Amino acid sequence: MSDQSKLIADTRATLSRIASEFSPAVFASSLAAEDMVLTDMILKSGLDIGIFSLETGRLHKETLAMLDKVKQHYGYEIAVYKPQAEAVDAYVAQNGLNAFYDSVEMRKECCRIRKVEPLGRALLGKKAWITGQRRAQAATRTSLMVEEDDPAHFMTKFNPLADWSEEDVWTYIRENGVPYNALHDQGYPSIGCEPCTRAIQPGEDVRAGRWWWENPESKECGLHVVDGKLIRIKSVAA
Ligand code: ADX
Ligand code: SF4
Repeated sequence: MSDQSKLIADTRATLSRIASEFSPAVFASSLAAEDMVLTDMILKSGLDIGIFSLETGRLHKETLAMLDKVKQHYGYEIAVYKPQAEAVDAYVAQNGLNAFYDSVEMRKECCRIRKVEPLGRALLGKKAWITGQRRAQAATRTSLMVEEDDPAHFMTKFNPLADWSEEDVWTYIRENGVPYNALHDQGYPSIGCEPCTRAIQPGEDVRAGRWWWENPESKECGLHVVDGKLIRIKSVAA
């Protein structure tokens, strides 16, 4: 068995175990490449794992188009969680539409309203949740485990692609004809909200285009918590 085949077999086994032992379990998909690998595995195996996406209201049109692409390709409708309209309206009325550029606090508050609160709703009553995080994505993810405790949500959290490299992800996508976000072909290895993500130059850290105006120490969106602390997203570029 090649290394890639073993990686795929191990990941499939993890997903099957989650479906059988951690029901109800859900998968949080940002609709980016890693998450499309997991979507493909879950849907092609018919696993009992619900897939949802946090539709922040500020996603690129190419990311939103993935919802339709998944429906066409797999006949599956991804559940969409949106922020509370009143909270967004109050933030925008008080601070302006793009106040996240003004300070780290303003940025975190926007992420809290548009991502963290809806995530809490999506995880209500669940026994486990799944993410597409990989260890190689950032210095802060180097100790990422496939299975970990999520004290913030009082449940188990799985990162089935923890051991995968970026190349493993793209090999899987190519070999299995998996649909993917068109932005990946335009210099965006990592994709978040439209105003907070930009294309990177060759050689730059894959997450360099996320919240690029902030000090690396403050780059945290609040979705992922480790040891009671928010993960700090640091650049791994030399
Ligand atoms: S993050 O800083 O935005 O969390 P990244 O884009 O690397 O980092 O996403 C890591 C994982 O968080 C994704 O694989 C996915 O599981 C989850 N995630 C991020 N954004 C969303 C979203 N909008 N909807 C659902 N899940 C998301
Ligand atoms: Fe708001 Fe940017 Fe966070 Fe999206 S990534 S929720 S637009 S601050």
